[in-house]
Amino acid sequence: TGYTVFDTGYKNSASCSSTITFLDGKKGILRYRGYAIEDLAEKCLFIEVAYLLLHNKLPNREELESFRTLLEQHALIHEDMIHFFDKFPPNASPMSILSVMVNSLHNFYPEMSADPLENIDMTASRLISKIRTIAAFSYKKSIGQPLVYPRNDLSYCGNFLNMMFNTPVRPYIVLPEVVAALNKLLILHADHEQNCSTSAVRLVGSSGGNLYASISAGINALWGPLHGGANEAVIQMLEAIHKDNNDYKKYIAKAKDKNDPFRLSGFGHRVYRTFDPRGKIIKDACDGILSVLNVQDPLLDIARNLEEIVLNDDYFVSRNLYPNIDFYSGIIYRALGIPTNMFTVMFALGRLPGWIAQWREMREDKETKIYRPRQIYIGFPARKFVSLAERS
Ligand code: CMC
Repeated sequence: TGYTVFDTGYKNSASCSSTITFLDGKKGILRYRGYAIEDLAEKCLFIEVAYLLLHNKLPNREELESFRTLLEQHALIHEDMIHFFDKFPPNASPMSILSVMVNSLHNFYPEMSADPLENIDMTASRLISKIRTIAAFSYKKSIGQPLVYPRNDLSYCGNFLNMMFNTPVRPYIVLPEVVAALNKLLILHADHEQNCSTSAVRLVGSSGGNLYASISAGINALWGPLHGGANEAVIQMLEAIHKDNNDYKKYIAKAKDKNDPFRLSGFGHRVYRTFDPRGKIIKDACDGILSVLNVQDPLLDIARNLEEIVLNDDYFVSRNLYPNIDFYSGIIYRALGIPTNMFTVMFALGRLPGWIAQWREMREDKETKIYRPRQIYIGFPARKFVSLAERS
């Protein structure tokens, strides 16, 4: 194959053209549909940003209201799906439950099969609304509490928090500051061009796979610790450092040791060669939300100290390794009461509108071909077949 270019990890390959997200990794710039991430995170609702990603425009009041109504109409999941939760073992990973449940939506809401693009608004709203119900129900099941159903009088984020934390004996007060913090986090995660999970969504969709199956694949790709799973891994790492009497040196040395697979979770990025602009916003938000909730988390100090050490260490400086979005997000999730094993589920909730917008763009693009990379074969040359009886 004279034309095959070897590009392991697709470090230098563009798999598509896209109008959704602009990313300048050298300058640390991120824009959705042309709007600066800083403006969107500060001034928008998550559902406005979801609309922006899906429709290439910020919604006016009327458009936002109809989108909100669609989300309200589709907040429940089919009651039969609730039985699925009972059959998972008690320690099942919330990410595996999420991917299974999202994939199963296709059986309960099969309208996509007829004309995938015609029903995209309905299916997008279904997914965006139902994913938070699925996530909250899986948490309730895992701790053995009764399910809390969605309520139309609550905002998108307020609804999720209420489904997670309300109980029949202790009503959950939905604090506006907590809703605002969650809203910001979801916006910051909403799209990030052709990352691993988005590429998985496009890859499955490129074969004609339905949206639910494609999103389920994205959830599975996100799960890994080098991608969305890093937010969980960061907290585990900070907890380990804490237990080790803040022995930063030990962890820095492990991360530099090429014979040790350990990496500092929450540092480095394929595209950013400077600070991740999303990480900066999250770091600034940490102090505010922790003080509103009166939470003193020793992990925040450990994170700050570790960042300081890394930013002054030649190994990390020479490789342009800076904190990424996952480094501080877990500190906020913890303060909101989200359990560590749900952090990557939170990432999926935020990334969902981006995945759907990318899937739609791919399917509408007449240039789209099935994703099918080539390889450089390095196995045996042709070998003479040996029958079973003659094999040594
Ligand atoms: N700790 C120690 N060394 C690192 C780290 C790290 N976190 N990240 C990269 N390096 C080193 C790596 O060993 C390599 O060194 P050398 O040139 O000597 O071989 C160099 O930096 C370049 O790394 P790479 O693995 O070739 O870079 P990549 O673009 O393939 O990987 C990454 C990007 C994010 C997977 C990687 O930086 C990493 O593993 N980071 C930790 C996990 C993490 O925080 N992931 C979240 C990413 S942001 C949000 C998301 O996508 O979900």
